[in-house]
Amino acid sequence: MHLFLYGPPGTGKSTIGKLIAHNLKLPFIDLDDVIETNAGIAIHQIIETQGESKFRDLETAALKNLANGKESVVALGGGALLREENRTHAETQGKVILLMAERETLQERLSADAIKRPLLVGDLDSKLASLLEERRAHYDSFPLKLFVDGKTAEQNAQQAQTLFGRHHLTAMGEYDVIVDTVERAPNSLNVDLIVTDENVANLHLEKIRQVIERKLPSIVIPAGEEHKNLATVSRLWASFLENGLDRKSTVIALGGGMVTDVAGFAASTYMRGVDWIAVPTTLLAMVDASLGGKTGFDLPEGKNLIGSFHPPKLVLADPSLLLTLNDRELRSGMAEVVKHGIIADPELFALCSNDLNWIKNNLEQIVKRAMAVKIQIIEADPYEKGIRATLNLGHTVGHAVELISGYKLSHGEAIAIGLVAEAKYAERIGIADQGVTDEISRVLSKLGLPVEIPKDMPREEILRTMRVDKKKNAKSIRFALPVEIDRVELVDVEDVEDVLED
Ligand SMILES: NC(=O)c1ccc[n+]([C@@H]2O[C@H](COP(=O)([O-])OP(=O)(O)OC[C@H]3O[C@@H](n4cnc5c(N)ncnc54)[C@H](O)[C@@H]3O)[C@@H](O)[C@H]2O)c1
Repeated sequence: MHLFLYGPPGTGKSTIGKLIAHNLKLPFIDLDDVIETNAGIAIHQIIETQGESKFRDLETAALKNLANGKESVVALGGGALLREENRTHAETQGKVILLMAERETLQERLSADAIKRPLLVGDLDSKLASLLEERRAHYDSFPLKLFVDGKTAEQNAQQAQTLFGRHHLTAMGEYDVIVDTVERAPNSLNVDLIVTDENVANLHLEKIRQVIERKLPSIVIPAGEEHKNLATVSRLWASFLENGLDRKSTVIALGGGMVTDVAGFAASTYMRGVDWIAVPTTLLAMVDASLGGKTGFDLPEGKNLIGSFHPPKLVLADPSLLLTLNDRELRSGMAEVVKHGIIADPELFALCSNDLNWIKNNLEQIVKRAMAVKIQIIEADPYEKGIRATLNLGHTVGHAVELISGYKLSHGEAIAIGLVAEAKYAERIGIADQGVTDEISRVLSKLGLPVEIPKDMPREEILRTMRVDKKKNAKSIRFALPVEIDRVELVDVEDVEDVLED
């Protein structure tokens, strides 16, 4: 699957493309350079001596030739996909992002090197204006667009990666995160066994098996948090042995956060650690649990008390797998998405203010943006020495409420309640902008999530539970509190009672 950058001349396709290639550790190809190398002369000479049509033929040939090569980031000439045949080719061989900029920006950039742009030689301003006008409908028709004005090349590269759904993580282990259909999974997937739960097995196991094209053995564990325990881990270890897995083996964890946590942990400890691949199937697992390398299981005394850092070798997130989730599970995942919006992506937060039906129709966009927020944070602080703790937004109150409800509230429902309770507190003590709580509360309510601590839940019990929460330190509890949408601060709170005052 190639990653193509397309768009008018001057949008920075080569500069941005090189950065993306560097970040993803992929080769970079400038298609115009390939054409010039093949022809042995510069493009403007090809056009001058043989005409534009001949140049387009060479472009088509160069594009088709890419099919034989290794996955690459490819910068295309500004008219390379005008031919329908070329466009179909690019869209089946990979993904295309259209870069776009204001005409003034393009003019400024192009005036420096007009000689290399044969179609713009002469009166640059009017030629550019008519080229943009001629191609307007064509450029408009590409679904993935990135407007590059007012941003650095690095920022544009990051945003293009989010749109492509492609990241290469290096802060803890080294692995790719790919948002794409499982059918388009890298064909080098070399795996020995699939771990999944009974629900996911019924819905998606066969499809995954078909894609990997092998009669892979699978272990189907019972679904539900109550099975995220040592008994399940022991069962996985035993099955790994029975299936002859050795230190070079790779396991796929196909499922929600329960499956990725427990299978990841079993992989981290079996023979001192074997490789694993996460194929998350819940929204929560895609945007949260599969990222960051935390694996583990629960003890009767509490959740996630045993665990390890053991990142997967690949995270493959296929948003179409989420279409079988029931509304409650989807909503639950949306609470984490809203949280990510509050922490670092106001546009994502705005998208969350649509209703659940809109969300269902736009899951790919939601997943890509929400994953990008978490990735940026865990790459900056993989072992939670500082900024990673901002991901606990809503979780200090949320965890307590979840536990006291006896897990009647789902994780996401509890987090929604926690987000609002903590925002109220932040506003009360003057950290948060006035109105932030209302904003958060409105978005969560529209998604159908609860925003109030249940009336019959004793406040004393919530406080007691928060105090024994594992995020406490000696004197105070560290809260991640919202300041505004796009900004969260870590605050040590000594008088925890104040948090729940109304
Ligand atoms: N490791 C981390 O960093 C991290 C972060 C957040 C949460 N977690 C963990 O994640 C777990 C919660 O994750 P979860 O909500 O995904 O739970 P889950 O794995 O229990 O899945 C929830 C339910 O959805 C079902 N399901 C999964 N995929 C489905 C699909 N595509 N269609 C229909 N049903 C499907 C499951 O069978 C299950 O019944 C908790 O154990 C939590 O501790 C871990």
